[in-house]
Amino acid sequence: MKRIALLGATGSIGRQAIEIVSEHPELELVAAASGTQPVDGLAPLTQVGGDLTELLERAEPDVVLNAVVGFAGLPVTLWALEAGVDLALANKESLVAAGELALAAQERGAGLLLPVDSEHSASFQCLEGRDPASVESLVLTASGGPFRGRSADELADVTPSEALAHPTWNMGPKITVDSATLANKGLELIEAHFLFGLSYDRLEVVVHPTSIVHALVRFRDGGALAHLGYPDMRVPISYALTYPERASTPVPSLDLSAGLTLEFHPPDLEAFPLLALAREAGERGGTAPCVFNAANEVAVEAFLEERIRFADIAEIVAASLESLDLSPAADVEELSAADAQTRAFAEGALSRA
Ligand SMILES: NC(=O)c1ccc[n+]([C@@H]2O[C@H](COP(=O)([O-])OP(=O)(O)OC[C@H]3O[C@@H](n4cnc5c(N)ncnc54)[C@H](OP(=O)(O)O)[C@@H]3O)[C@@H](O)[C@H]2O)c1
Repeated sequence: MKRIALLGATGSIGRQAIEIVSEHPELELVAAASGTQPVDGLAPLTQVGGDLTELLERAEPDVVLNAVVGFAGLPVTLWALEAGVDLALANKESLVAAGELALAAQERGAGLLLPVDSEHSASFQCLEGRDPASVESLVLTASGGPFRGRSADELADVTPSEALAHPTWNMGPKITVDSATLANKGLELIEAHFLFGLSYDRLEVVVHPTSIVHALVRFRDGGALAHLGYPDMRVPISYALTYPERASTPVPSLDLSAGLTLEFHPPDLEAFPLLALAREAGERGGTAPCVFNAANEVAVEAFLEERIRFADIAEIVAASLESLDLSPAADVEELSAADAQTRAFAEGALSRA
């Protein structure tokens, strides 16, 4: 039996995780938490809001699935890594914002860090057991979102409901807007840097509209390994929860007779500046990824509330990165201060947008 603690149980990932757990008698949901919505009866231990690490202490899980959205998931990530409890990580924002602190905690705790993001689960599988010296680069694929092919001018006045209409993935609102701006792929670049120890010049992003290839690893001999499948988060969730077993899922395997389209294009960095800004923040290091993430969270929420325009999201993130101190955080307190300072700056920038 594996005892699972699920944080973010009411969200898109959380609901799919519950489906996976219910199909596998060897998985037991021992704790479930949300931010505001009720979770009564989902698990023996439940909690709405508050300090999620208290729930984790009581639950004594074998695996923590962090499916909280945003920086709010950071305590969960750090708790699991520090305690050496295996962490199935959907909450990319915590690893982006606190990469160095998280890796240091993982070294002390010595537990597994299993990515749930589909691209990183795919990368993990292509990289597993390979000599790092044989790896040339890692390619993350992006569907391009609902606005693929549009120019910056054509994006100026798009609405939240247009941004929420993702062509291939059905996800929570924040990540769906991030997919429309390509900030999501930027967060994933930084996430991949920390997960796989690859420098940014060995991390590529390509647009692949059908989302069949989730990631591809190029090796020094000219060969490449890719991970393919229909876009369905139940596959990487199940992989992380049942690792290393790779249990069956209800997701069909690829129908090759249906004619799969495997097209790849370079991303348009002019129309989607958040991807380049994320890469710069990652390369800059220190608290730049934390600042990128916090400013983006504030701006996305304001866009969803129709307080700013789509193009303002990137403007606010760029202004935050230009104006704030990006020096490294020595501990969680300093990191949380950088996050809070960025949020205050970005809130101020909203009224000027
Ligand atoms: N959805 C996907 O397909 C997908 C794919 C790859 C990666 N991810 C990542 O997975 C994470 C979750 O995404 P999602 O799409 O599932 O988001 P979502 O549908 O918006 O769900 C977010 C979950 O987080 C909970 N939450 C928010 N703030 C919280 C807090 N302060 N304390 C405790 N719980 C809190 C929410 O609870 P309430 O319902 O009570 O607000 C909800 O259960 C994100 O980091 C996202 O980037 C998602």
